[in-house]
Amino acid sequence: MHAHPVEAAPAAGGPNASPGPRGGVRTSPLAEGLLEVEGVSTGYGSFRALFDVSLHVDEGEILAVIGANGAGKSTLLKTICGLLRTEDSTVRFDGRPIGTLPAHKRVGLGISLVPEGRLVFPSLTVHENLLVGGHSRRTGPWSVSKVRELFPLLDRLMDKQAAHLSGGEQQALAIGRGLMANPRLLLLDEVSLGLAPIVVTELYKAIPRIVAEGTTLIIVEQDIGQAVAVADRIVCLLEGRVVLQGRPDEVTREQISAAYFGI
Ligand SMILES: Nc1ncnc2c1ncn2[C@@H]1O[C@H](COP(=O)(O)OP(=O)(O)OP(=O)(O)O)[C@@H](O)[C@H]1O
Ligand SMILES: [Mg+2]
Repeated sequence: MHAHPVEAAPAAGGPNASPGPRGGVRTSPLAEGLLEVEGVSTGYGSFRALFDVSLHVDEGEILAVIGANGAGKSTLLKTICGLLRTEDSTVRFDGRPIGTLPAHKRVGLGISLVPEGRLVFPSLTVHENLLVGGHSRRTGPWSVSKVRELFPLLDRLMDKQAAHLSGGEQQALAIGRGLMANPRLLLLDEVSLGLAPIVVTELYKAIPRIVAEGTTLIIVEQDIGQAVAVADRIVCLLEGRVVLQGRPDEVTREQISAAYFGI
C-alpha cells in the first residue's frame, strides 16, 4: 500500500493544508498523521537532549531525520518507541496519546525500533533472531520467508550465528527482525553507519519494498545523501531542535548543510 492519493481539492492550499506523503496535501485540519510529536522536551536526568520538538509522519510516508553527532536523533526515536517516556499527549499514534506507554506496549500498537548499532543477538542464528523479533507479532505481511525474500543475502545464512555475520548482514538481519513484529511504523536508526557504500545501496533497495507492504518509516541518518534520495520529507535536528523541515524538492543542499552544521 502506498500513500493515499490526494482527495478533495477544496481545502488543498488552504490555511491549514500542509504537505502530505509524496507531495500530497493533508486536506483536513483535523486529519492526524499516523504519528504526531508535539512539543517534546526530554533528556537524561537533568540533561536536556530535545527542545520543543514537533513533527508528524503520515501513513505510507518515509521521513528522514538527519543531524550531526549528538543532535538528538536517537533520543527522538527512543521517545517515539517508548524507551524514553514523556507527557502522554505529546506523542500520539493513530490519534491516541502514547507518551507514557512503555516500549513493549508500543510494539503491540505497531511501533518497532531497529536500534543504532544493530544489536542482534550474537549467539543466536539468523533464523532464531528473526523468530525473536516475531515473538509478540501483530498480524501482517511479514514472516521469516518474506524477510528472506526481501534480503536475499540472508537467505543462505539462516543457520549461521549472528556473531559471524558481516556488518551489512547484521544490519539486514536487524531490519528483518524489526519487520517480524509487523510494525505500522518502523524506526531505523543509522542504517548506513560503518558500512561500505555498496552495502548501503543494497540495504536501501529494500526500503521501497518495505513501504509497499504498508509500513511507514522514519529513517535516521548522518549520511544525508541516501536519506534525501529515499525520503518523502526531511527533518533536520541541530542540538536538540528542529531547524529545517521540508520535502527534498523544497529544500536546497545549502539549506540542508546550513541546518546540519548550524552555520
Ligand atoms: N543515556 C544517555 N545519558 C546521558 N546523555 C545522553 C544519553 N544518550 C544520549 N545522551 C546525550 O544526548 C544528546 C543527544 O544524543 P543522541 O544519542 O540522541 O544523538 P544522536 O543525534 O543520535 O547522535 P549520533 O549521531 O552520535 O547517534 C547528546 O548530547 C548525548 O551525549
Ligand atoms: Mg544516534
